[in-house]
Amino acid sequence: MKKYTLIGPFKQILTMGGLPLKGALLDQQLTIIENGGIIIVDEKIYAVGPYAQVSEEANNLNAENLLILSEMICIPGFIDTHTHICFGGSRANDYALRNSGKTYLEIAKSGGGIWDTVTQTRKASTPELISLITERAERHINHGVTTIEVKSGYGLSVQEELKMLRAMASAREECKSDLVPTCLAAHMVPKDNNGTADDYLLEISTELFPILKKERLTQRIDAFIEEGAFSPTSIAPYFDRAKEMGFDITVHADQFSTGGSAVAVKYNAISADHLEASGEKEIQLLAKSNTIATALPGASIGLGCNYTPARKLLDAGAAVAIASDWNPGSAPMGNLLTQAAILGTFEKLTNAEVLAGITYRAAAALGLRDRGKIETGLLADLIAFPTGNYKEILYQQGMLLPSLVWKKGRLAVE
Ligand code: NIG
Ligand code: FE
Repeated sequence: MKKYTLIGPFKQILTMGGLPLKGALLDQQLTIIENGGIIIVDEKIYAVGPYAQVSEEANNLNAENLLILSEMICIPGFIDTHTHICFGGSRANDYALRNSGKTYLEIAKSGGGIWDTVTQTRKASTPELISLITERAERHINHGVTTIEVKSGYGLSVQEELKMLRAMASAREECKSDLVPTCLAAHMVPKDNNGTADDYLLEISTELFPILKKERLTQRIDAFIEEGAFSPTSIAPYFDRAKEMGFDITVHADQFSTGGSAVAVKYNAISADHLEASGEKEIQLLAKSNTIATALPGASIGLGCNYTPARKLLDAGAAVAIASDWNPGSAPMGNLLTQAAILGTFEKLTNAEVLAGITYRAAAALGLRDRGKIETGLLADLIAFPTGNYKEILYQQGMLLPSLVWKKGRLAVE
């Protein structure tokens, strides 16, 4: 027996439907259903429309009724397409050093940085990692984030990367939200590796990739292309191998210097993330490609550097997603909505562009077609915010918290 539930009435339902994947958006393009209702069946959306209309349909289906008594608006669950929430320890010291004048790369070279977190993460037991991921995912879902990508990359050996990815697989069973794991073994060349960058990448691709497939630990391979990490040349055979094996490619690109975005486009990557250093050439390249350009304002805020040129990317016709990059080094805040709202103020983005970046455009960056909009047949991942005007969401810069969050049709936050 199917179980139908009618929810509403909502002052506004922002469906995010009918909008293009790429390019600039105006708020006037948003589909807003005033006094709307939604029927959920099991995990999915069965119907959405004016409350009077869907409640009639709900009657015929013998649906349960969850009456929304106060003023609320409903919007698709947020999707955070780029996080590193599987980590041990803290880098509060790095943060203080940076703020006293040292650069990210200087700190990394002198023993802090990513390697510090690798040491802390290797020390953590699998159960510890599982509970760290679960706690962080719980905080995220309270803010409306119902799908979270999580990267490895603090293990940096076949066994330690496996430990991280297996911890993610276990955390997936425990979390209310969906976790999407990504292998970022190519985060940096591990300091305890005797070989060259090429040797390390060869070892990972020949030894780790087959296990990832066999244990179904991830569909996604990421690499950090940057000075001090991996060059476009050294990453080529690694990405070739990943492609041959059918993985999706995603890239940490153009964070401090350019080069990564061209690699992303060449490999038809599903997304190119960071892009703070991208110039006109890179923007045009990304705009013409199928690669989603992902802005990570949390890293700009954490490092005190410039924002991804999201306005220029959108005007050039790119698909722009926004993610938190939640990690202990460059983006410790981990509040997607606050960061997306702030990116909007600095980059002059419309409500529609920011909200698209954390809903359906984010879904595309993870290759997920079943979420990101409120439409019949899609997952019932929904947020109810306590306001009558959707513009309050970004205006309050993350301080307006959801009253209710549904994950796959179930109330996950109430
Ligand atoms: O996305 N850029 C490289 N990786 C992370 C930072 C990871 C860290 O500093 O621990 C990022 O910003
Ligand atoms: Fe990152």
